Amino acid sequence: MSLILFFIFAILQSSLSVDPSNFKTCEQSSFCKRCRSVKPGQSHYAIIPGSLNSYSDSVTLELVNKENQHKFDLKLTGLVKGNNFRLEIDEKQPLSPRYRVTDSLKETPTAGQIKVIDTNEQLTVSIGPNKAVFHSEPFRIDFYHNEILTTSVNSKGLMKFEELRSKPKPVESSENQEEQQPSVEDEPGTWEENFKSHHDSKPKGPEAVALDFSFPEADILFGIPEHADSFALRTTHGKGDPYRLYNLDVFEYELNSRMALYGSVPVLYGHGQRASAGVFWNNAAETWVDIHGPESNVVSSIVKFVSGSVKSDPYAAHFISESGVIDVFILMGPTPLDTFKQYTDITGTVPLPQQFALAYHQCRWNYNDQKDVITVSEKFDEYDIPMDTMWLDIEYTDNKKYFTWDKQKFGDSIEMIKNLTDLGRHLTIIIDPHIKREGGYFFHDDCTNKGYYTKNKDNNDYEGWCWPGSASYPDLFNPEVRKYFADQYLVENFKTYTKDVMIWNDMNEPSVFNGPEVTMLKDNLHFGGWEHRDVHNLYGHMQLVSTFDGLSRRDPNQRPFILSRAHFSGSQRYAAIWTGDNKADWEHLEHSIKMCLSESVAGFSFCGSDVGGFFGNVEAELFRRWYQAAAFQPFFRSHAHIDTKRREPWLFPEETRLIIRDALRKRYSYLPLWYTMFYEHETVGLPVMRPMLAQYPHDKDAFAIDSQYLLQDKLLVRPVMQQGVNKVDVYFPVKDDKTGDLWYDIDNYQKYENTGYISVPVDENKIPIYQRGGTIVPKKERIRRSSPLMIHDPYTLIVALDKNHQAKGTLFIDDEKSYEYRSGKFIYTEFTFDKDTLRSKFIGTPKYSTNSWLERVVIAGLNRQPKQAKITYEGKTEELDILENAHGAITVRKPGSNMAKEFTIQLIY
Ligand SMILES: *[C@@H]1O[C@H](CO)[C@@H](O)[C@H](O)[C@H]1NC(C)=O
Repeated sequence: MSLILFFIFAILQSSLSVDPSNFKTCEQSSFCKRCRSVKPGQSHYAIIPGSLNSYSDSVTLELVNKENQHKFDLKLTGLVKGNNFRLEIDEKQPLSPRYRVTDSLKETPTAGQIKVIDTNEQLTVSIGPNKAVFHSEPFRIDFYHNEILTTSVNSKGLMKFEELRSKPKPVESSENQEEQQPSVEDEPGTWEENFKSHHDSKPKGPEAVALDFSFPEADILFGIPEHADSFALRTTHGKGDPYRLYNLDVFEYELNSRMALYGSVPVLYGHGQRASAGVFWNNAAETWVDIHGPESNVVSSIVKFVSGSVKSDPYAAHFISESGVIDVFILMGPTPLDTFKQYTDITGTVPLPQQFALAYHQCRWNYNDQKDVITVSEKFDEYDIPMDTMWLDIEYTDNKKYFTWDKQKFGDSIEMIKNLTDLGRHLTIIIDPHIKREGGYFFHDDCTNKGYYTKNKDNNDYEGWCWPGSASYPDLFNPEVRKYFADQYLVENFKTYTKDVMIWNDMNEPSVFNGPEVTMLKDNLHFGGWEHRDVHNLYGHMQLVSTFDGLSRRDPNQRPFILSRAHFSGSQRYAAIWTGDNKADWEHLEHSIKMCLSESVAGFSFCGSDVGGFFGNVEAELFRRWYQAAAFQPFFRSHAHIDTKRREPWLFPEETRLIIRDALRKRYSYLPLWYTMFYEHETVGLPVMRPMLAQYPHDKDAFAIDSQYLLQDKLLVRPVMQQGVNKVDVYFPVKDDKTGDLWYDIDNYQKYENTGYISVPVDENKIPIYQRGGTIVPKKERIRRSSPLMIHDPYTLIVALDKNHQAKGTLFIDDEKSYEYRSGKFIYTEFTFDKDTLRSKFIGTPKYSTNSWLERVVIAGLNRQPKQAKITYEGKTEELDILENAHGAITVRKPGSNMAKEFTIQLIY
């Protein structure tokens, strides 16, 4: 019976695209509706006079809701890093504790020395160049960088903090219960709620928190992934639903949509020409974010009055969460890069991946058996196409029981893995959090016997439907359960795999096919008695914590690689993410960039999309264009649904195969740049993939562009994302001095020095990519079957000169695999080109040796042709030949210096 239901479900899934009616609108979500209906400009919250307490690093105050006299504690802390602020508001005496998110944070942020000035008129708290100015009634806080007001809290007066209360008795008996006197009748949905056939018992009743943030300086708001929408946030107030943050497995998701998706990262930025600022709303419950745009602002005169700002009608974001407390970090900027770094200072960065993880991944649902896996790997070699990692989706398991293999199809799993690792390749396998409820399956038996499963509201093991049929979900909020799950990754437990196998955590929203909105019931119970409602957006994150622990203990000296679908703030510390189950069409290719740009500024530098599109058969032109685009995105994996036609590159006509091969070889040639960029991401905290505004914060025309992007400040990438085009418009940005940078086409060194949109011709082999004048980019130009085999290969440096004939860049070299770089075993070099001389200089003392040497140096942008060059290293000087390239670029041949030596190369005229 149940199996039949499951198949009916599967058939339904495979024949329909997303049915939005399966997912709640704000109107159908009672807390969202209640909070969204708060009228602006009438805030009932006020600071209680005389309640101030000042400490060296924080102030505390009491707030009162003047409607019902309910009291709240407010704390504002100054943070050392970035001179940011943390604002926390909770009930003074809640009926029961309210959930506070800590797992998102890298560590408890260090508080810093603040200055407090309290006059009768107003309270000012400052740290460094930033200050917070409190207004008592109605309650509001204005945040200034220097003297510029950048963020204002509750200036629209949309704050709502629903105090926990006991459920009102029917009217007759209410006279005996003085403490319960709801001033208005509670709306339906307040104390229990139905959606479709699902009932939410809401044991604690209404407990939402909501607050608005205005950004008086902003011309654009962005952030709060994950949505299949533009990089710039749209105005939602009065224009349909807010953006929703609730980790969900949305089947065939819609584009240009604010619907929730797999991940939720509640950080939002407001940027304008004078300043940038951000807010990180640290709450893991279901959250909606209503965007008030200048044009929809109905109380502009009030805002103007209170903010005193030149912009009378600022952008604002109204955050609405179902439960928890208000815990928000105000990121004070003042530049976009500052705010991005301030966010990763709090939630962490992506740790440097192993080199192979930045190379190319080959996946489909499913490679059928061990022979299929090895054959596909061999075919890549036959066609001379580089590939690093084969992937196995759910079908490798014995009936969707994780940590087991289908013995018929993968009887020699160890040998299969060894066959891959012998070629320098890796295997990644899927481990999902739904556990098949089958007696005799050790994982299920252990979880049942030890009480490790998430409980339903009646404290019984919660059962749902997922790939295995009937399944339960480990309570990953329990540290003992996380340890148990992590232990299963140890080779002594999972004996039929090896420590070289990496892990893909999918379906971890968690996806529950028969649950409300395809996930778990909100009144389910987790460790510590918390409801699923409080922690939903963290469930996948806790799986990543566990997987990371398991892989780290499996082999302490190998950096784990994990891919996750669900994610929350901080998940970047453990896993790469991809944009889930996209579709083989052109618009999805465009969205791969929009979505990864939003993720990237929200900490997830290691982001990608399924190349070719997960659903549907991909036609050759789209497939080629997708490879060309993804070769310049951080996480690079081809993946496809089980119902699609096989799509390995050699199954397409030769022309397509060769273009794909070319795109892949280009990716491999830039691996030294990718690797260096990720090292710098980990240590500096800035995104690898950047929106134009990150580097050109004053070029207003560039703010909302999401069809092109930058890799650090080095490459400008403008993929071709339309069918049949022979030209694309590339935007060349404007610098602060109103001039443009020089840009060099990476294929032929053709120089561009105009600003604004330029129509660039493309043929099927080409997507426009430019190296910025002023940068030096490291490459390796001997492409091998997999990246580990390239470790000792020589380097090429591409020197792109700016208008002053200068350039600089960096290169990071280590063993590409272990944690030894954390104890200094690396070579980190800065290259500078000035006055016709290229110099390398170590940053720190190199404690790593390499066989790699410098094979060639290409210099673009010289205005005359040198005759010769000479290199000096280790006290000796040698003469070098020079070749001419197109567009006046030159190649200095075979400098020959080992990369662990400093050198100088001088051009001679
Ligand atoms: C491993 O490679 C060897 C040699 O090519 C082959 O004979 C064997 O069948 C492969 N085994 C598996 C499980 O892939």
